[in-house]
Amino acid sequence: MGRPVSILEIGSWEGRSLLWWLDNVATHSRATVTSIDPQRWGAATYRKMFRHVSEHPRAQQITLIRGLSRHELPRLPEQSLDLIYVVGSHEGRDVLLDACLSFHLLTSGGILLLDDYKWPGDPDHPLDGLPGPAIDAFAVIFGSQLEELRRGYQIAFRRR
Ligand SMILES: C[S@@+](CC[C@H](N)C(=O)[O-])C[C@H]1O[C@@H](n2cnc3c(N)ncnc32)[C@H](O)[C@@H]1O
Repeated sequence: MGRPVSILEIGSWEGRSLLWWLDNVATHSRATVTSIDPQRWGAATYRKMFRHVSEHPRAQQITLIRGLSRHELPRLPEQSLDLIYVVGSHEGRDVLLDACLSFHLLTSGGILLLDDYKWPGDPDHPLDGLPGPAIDAFAVIFGSQLEELRRGYQIAFRRR
């Protein structure tokens, strides 16, 4: 808080967590929050969903990127982000890719926070792998460069 941090979120939906970051962490006037989402909804729904984002008094500190994380993350500068929150696709292979690509975008000391670590899945909508095993694989592969900060429904690592 109170520092010109750069935050990235994968998965905007209606922008609730985006605004939470802005109001509670990205409080400095030069702090930024970027959110990536394919926004697979129509323009009218988009305007309705994002009215509270566009009308926020510090809306100029927000960047919304329309696209899939696997396409958009490689376009961002390496080691440019202080915190990345992964709350996009629940598909294990997407989560693994999001974690690996995000790692390279973090500054040294930057934090990677991933949602749904303990999500048990939905038997009515089976996926190719769940977030938990994908994140475990990421933690093994990048282990020496990570410090685990928290493990619960969400899991957080600091880049060493
Ligand atoms: C759980 S919602 C995010 C909730 C949001 N952070 C909020 O607070 O309202 C998940 C979002 O991830 C998006 N999503 C799914 N796959 C994605 C991907 N590959 N890249 C980026 N966003 C993705 C979905 O469109 C959806 O809006």
